[in-house]
Amino acid sequence: MRDTKGRILQLLRARGAPVSGEALSADLGLSRTAVWKQIRKLQELGYAIEASAKGYRLDGSPDTPLPWEFPGRQDAVHYFPEVASTMDIARKMARAGCAPFTVVVADRQTHGRGRLQRHWHSEAGGLYFTVVLRPVLPLLMGPRVSFCAALALARTLQRLWGVAAALKWPNDILVKERKLAGMLSEMEAEADRITYVNVGIGLNVNNDPAGAGAAATSLTKILGRPVSRVRLLAEYLDVLEARLASIEKTDVIAEWKAHAVTLGRRVEIVTQRETVAGRAIDVDDNGSLILQLDDGSRQTVIYGDCFHL
Ligand code: BTN
Repeated sequence: MRDTKGRILQLLRARGAPVSGEALSADLGLSRTAVWKQIRKLQELGYAIEASAKGYRLDGSPDTPLPWEFPGRQDAVHYFPEVASTMDIARKMARAGCAPFTVVVADRQTHGRGRLQRHWHSEAGGLYFTVVLRPVLPLLMGPRVSFCAALALARTLQRLWGVAAALKWPNDILVKERKLAGMLSEMEAEADRITYVNVGIGLNVNNDPAGAGAAATSLTKILGRPVSRVRLLAEYLDVLEARLASIEKTDVIAEWKAHAVTLGRRVEIVTQRETVAGRAIDVDDNGSLILQLDDGSRQTVIYGDCFHL
């Protein structure tokens, strides 16, 4: 019935004027009662569909990432109003063998996870999703996938709304030094081959960024108006897919560096075991950060949270 709802919306959107129940039922090969039931369901989901003697007219759609809003991906998008964490659901699906580009997206998360076991504030209005990727890459190249995912997000924001996003190591998206989005990746491999990389993204879209911390921002705040989460996710998946297709041919890390604001800065890095401070001087081919410590020695950090000092 996902396809039916998608087709009804497609027909109503294309017309922009009332479409009779008769025309819809002929197009869909369904009885008029079955069409009416689907319309009722769409109305319950927030679609403003006006029923009159002339037929059905679509006056507005909710900004809800329902599967049929992603033509060509409707079987891959799994939407939930509320979950504990999209990472948990995506992991189960990845382990059960789901197709690449399976997406788990939620309006809210009760136990959203950030890096280093931090809580990720996930209130309504934000965009919270995990995408299951299955790059055919050697294990060592795994971290490049998250760098690629961060670049794809920066590109999407630029393309849709002209927002110039900067990247903070490892994969934060900043706008004017404030955090707009965070990214968490989980990878599993067999022998030397990646079986999946799950990329989870939390983006402050129309939610109040104050809840996410003092140094956070949101798209609404940046643009001065609410924007469509559906459009954002649809565009992002397309950009990400195109980028990943050429991941082996492009120097993702070099591209990442061109957008990065971490290099050259004094930073503090918090890892599971320690906190170190120094100057961020480079990111190596595996995505690790190279720090120059105060005593002049160098330290390579594979994973951690980075604070610009
Ligand atoms: C960070 O900056 O610490 C990473 C935050 C990642 C949050 C996203 S929201 C969607 C997905 N589900 C989670 O529980 N976490 C990620």
